Formats: sequence, structure tokens, C-alpha cells
Amino acid sequence: MFVAAFGLALVSACKKSKEPVPTTETCDTNPKNYNTHVKPIMTDFCTVCHKPGGAYSSLPLTTYTEVKNATENGKLLPSIKHQSSAAAMPQGGNKLSDANIAIIDCWVSKGYPEN
Ligand code: HEC
Repeated sequence: MFVAAFGLALVSACKKSKEPVPTTETCDTNPKNYNTHVKPIMTDFCTVCHKPGGAYSSLPLTTYTEVKNATENGKLLPSIKHQSSAAAMPQGGNKLSDANIAIIDCWVSKGYPEN
């Protein structure tokens, strides 16, 4: 009886430690930068339109400065979070994953580190 209860306690203790760490903590312990983390998201989901010659070439998102400016002017985060204050992005495509949105949130909260 005692052994069974002890075993159960061990199993539940083990389960607990596998719960995901909240985003705010991972951002502090594992900050995100433009070149390694944000740029690949832009390249995969955004620059097909947001580049010279693309469907929305007036808002290019191909360099650090362009992405930082688009974020600072207050449109980029609401657009990827599909909030009513901006057009939902990627236009006509699936919303970015929560993990990718969390990366961009983290980058902004740390003051747009480039590297
Ligand atoms: C299929 C083409 C396409 C893709 C892919 C795309 N966009 Fe856009 N984007 C547009 C167009 C067209 C507009 C202008 C739409 C409008 O104002 O209704 C726009 C507008 C925007 C705006 C301005 C929104 C506003 O309300 O002023 C931002 C910011 C933006 N896009 C960011 C992004 C980001 C970030 C991604 C990738 C996650 C992305 N876009 C992917 C075509 C695209």
C-alpha cells in the first residue's frame, strides 16, 4: 500500500516537471533576435508580398530596419495577432503559429535586438 502510494507520487511529480514553461520566462532566459529568429519567419511567411516587386511592395519587410519600423509604427503585431486595428496577416494565409508569434513578441519586448 505504502509502496503503491509512493510510486504514484513519483509519477505525478514527474508529470509536473514536464509542464511547458510560460512564454515570459522563456523570453527572459532565451531572448530572441532579428537575424536568428525573426528574419526566418519574415522570409517564410511575409516577404513573398512584402518586398520590392511583391504584392505589397510599399511595406517591404526584408531588412532589420524595415521590420523594426513596421513593428514600431504599431501595425505588425496586431496584424499577425489578427486584431481589429490592422489588416490580418499573412494575407490570405494561415495565422502564424503561437510559437512564432511568441518569438516576435519576445523580440519586441527586449527592444529589437539585431543579433
Ligand atoms: C499574399 C501577400 C501577403 C503576405 C504573404 C503578407 N502580406 Fe502583409 N500585406 C499585404 C497587403 C496586400 C497589405 C495591404 C492590405 C490592407 O491594407 O488591407 C498588407 C499589409 C500589411 C501590414 C499593414 C497592415 C495595416 O493595417 O496597415 C502589415 C504590418 C503587414 N502586412 C505585415 C505582414 C506580415 C508580418 C506578414 C507575414 C507574417 C505579411 N504581412 C504577409 C500582403 C501580404
